[in-house]
Amino acid sequence: MMKSVFIGCGAYLPQRKISNEELATKVDTSDEWIVARTGISNRHIAADDEMTSDLAYAAAVEALASADMAASELDLIVLATATPDQTFPATATKVQARLGVPGIPAFDVQAVCSGFIYALAVADNFIKVGQARNVLVIGAETFSRILDWEDRTTCVLFGDGAGAVVLRAENSASEGMRSSDRRGIMSTHLHADGRHHDMLYVDGGPSSTGTSGFLRMRGKEVFRHAVSNLAAVVGEALEANDLAPEDIDWLVPHQANRRIIDHTAKKLKMPSEKVVLTVSEHGNTSAASVPLALYEAVSDGRIQKGDVILMEAMGGGFTWGSVLARW
Ligand code: ACO
Repeated sequence: MMKSVFIGCGAYLPQRKISNEELATKVDTSDEWIVARTGISNRHIAADDEMTSDLAYAAAVEALASADMAASELDLIVLATATPDQTFPATATKVQARLGVPGIPAFDVQAVCSGFIYALAVADNFIKVGQARNVLVIGAETFSRILDWEDRTTCVLFGDGAGAVVLRAENSASEGMRSSDRRGIMSTHLHADGRHHDMLYVDGGPSSTGTSGFLRMRGKEVFRHAVSNLAAVVGEALEANDLAPEDIDWLVPHQANRRIIDHTAKKLKMPSEKVVLTVSEHGNTSAASVPLALYEAVSDGRIQKGDVILMEAMGGGFTWGSVLARW
């Protein structure tokens, strides 16, 4: 069986940064409230002429460079987004055209904040069955376009950005090593529960209103579901791999809210030094948040080859899931 090994990563954040103080000049909020409830201080916002595909392309180019791989070597592109440039075609096909690799499959995955986890699972399965060898997986969002900037309960929480990784198929049966000692994705677990559709959604769409709509959320309920689903999914990943919390070198969580992350880390008895946190500077970038956090910890040297990393996310749907991997 082939194993999906991470060989590169990249990221892109729009230049424009909005602080809590700046937001407080637009809506009735304060730096104190936002930091205390969410841990967020700043978020990046795409320029008027920047689209999700532009952010995704920039992250993809950096990921390919860090993997030392030419785009022509790719045989699949999977892009996670809930904010595509257009309703169709898939934003992945726009990135593909700019990378100059016609012919290979390219498609979007829609699982909102869990999108990157879903996209990694899809890519991993393509690799495992031998349908792809080199896969570009991107999470990219421009949530600023679907925020109601007059609704203080939601507009303070989100930001724009993109992150990308390159996965390469490697034969998992080599060198007589135990599977868990080899680099690559060890497990993926995905879940959804559409009964909670109305707790976090966008009040528009092509087949309902004909508009793209704005994000709506019942924050307290989302919080409650997030802490219980994420605790369950990290437990599931550990059990499936016969690992204990102390075997995890890095928790790379979806960056929605500092309090949700702290809760999951506490469940895992994970010291805060082993948790990658970017929420303060990025806000919640939905499908981009896990690869942006991953990129930061790889770039600053915290995550090293061979480290065991646990990625998890939960988002609208609800959807949630985990990816456990050896970097
Ligand atoms: N600034 C100041 N006051 C505010 C703001 C704001 N930006 N937003 C709400 N308030 C007020 C409310 O109006 C309310 O006032 P009231 O008591 O006079 O009615 C008060 O603050 C408390 O509001 P609550 O909604 O009860 O605040 P809560 O403690 O639940 O925090 C929050 C709200 C931060 C949204 C929290 O519920 C949360 O983090 N939920 C999870 C949401 C999330 O992370 N979603 C992301 C997508 S899902 C995911 O990625 C996991």
